[in-house]
Amino acid sequence: MSGLDYQVCIAGTGSYVPEKILTNEELAKRVDTSDEWIFTRTGIRERRIAAEGEFTSHMASNAARKALEQAGMEASEIQLIIVATITPDTITPATACYVQQQLGASNAVAFDISAACSGFLYAMKMSKRMIADGAFENALIIGAEKLSAFVNWEDRTTCVLFGDGAGAAVLRRAAPEEGSILATEMGTDGKLTHLLNIPGGGSACPITESNVNDHLATLAMQGKEVFKHAVNRMKQAAETVISRADLQPEDIACVIPHQANLRIIDAIAGRLSVPEGRVFVNLDKYGNTSAAAVAIALDEANRSGVFKRGDNIVMVVFGAGLTWAAAAVRW
Ligand code: UT7
Repeated sequence: MSGLDYQVCIAGTGSYVPEKILTNEELAKRVDTSDEWIFTRTGIRERRIAAEGEFTSHMASNAARKALEQAGMEASEIQLIIVATITPDTITPATACYVQQQLGASNAVAFDISAACSGFLYAMKMSKRMIADGAFENALIIGAEKLSAFVNWEDRTTCVLFGDGAGAAVLRRAAPEEGSILATEMGTDGKLTHLLNIPGGGSACPITESNVNDHLATLAMQGKEVFKHAVNRMKQAAETVISRADLQPEDIACVIPHQANLRIIDAIAGRLSVPEGRVFVNLDKYGNTSAAAVAIALDEANRSGVFKRGDNIVMVVFGAGLTWAAAAVRW
């Protein structure tokens, strides 16, 4: 069949964060930092840390179960699972395969995508298109990260920033009276791979006996440079989807940005002309959870009634790659 273009809605959201809280004060006992520095520079107060034996797939499955429940669907009905992560359980197979098994979603095709903090919205755009053209009736998309396993806990410039968690959404064909994903945007600038990466542990730089103590399999970031690009790219991406959806900034009930730094969020909010007080923030509780961040925020905003059916929302993200993405959704 050709020429199909089904509308696609978000039928349910879910999120999960580990129980263990790591506060700024506790971090200040490990490295030369303070609650004051971390909070004023980033807006973060605390983050969650996965338990011993708790993997990215476990967090992903926990978030997914809640999204399925809200969507009123059984795992066996799901046809496609995409997990966005840079901290997979194993390099292969994909974390999505473990999630498929844990959920009992045995009828789903499952794979991962690696687009860092932008992964959840990359997954949203891909799965929206795959449902719109009739290839699948529904999809479970998940952003999940166990960043605590890829942080150098001796480096104060990065270890204070990141946390663990997962967020999920069920997408399916929309009925005419339901909301839908109105517009999406993605972008990449591979000239800037060096600004934010995990240099070791891949085929370019395997971990060996001679470099095992160099912390190469941990996140490295040129924060100031990343900051600048994040503000510009997220502003542009958000404006693009607002305009493609034929909306004005004042039509947006809620902006859900990537949760990396409150100063970045404030800078974008100031440049977007969306009325004040419409930007959702939860990074004080979780820090930067990369691909999970916007997904957890979407679920928290949804469940706490920040927006209601018929409202327009905009999600916008930015991360390593460099990558960025945005989506405008009528709820
Ligand atoms: O998720 C993907 C996207 N990621 C982002 O968007 C992150 C973007 N970048 C940022 O959020 C910020 O650049 C950071 C929060 C990472 C850093 O903030 P900054 O205002 O750019 O600080 P800085 O790196 O310029 O560091 C300022 C000072 C330095 O000291 P000197 O050189 O001025 O003496 C750092 O050594 O703060 C020092 N510093 C710290 N001090 C106490 C860096 N980290 C810490 C720390 N505690 N944890």
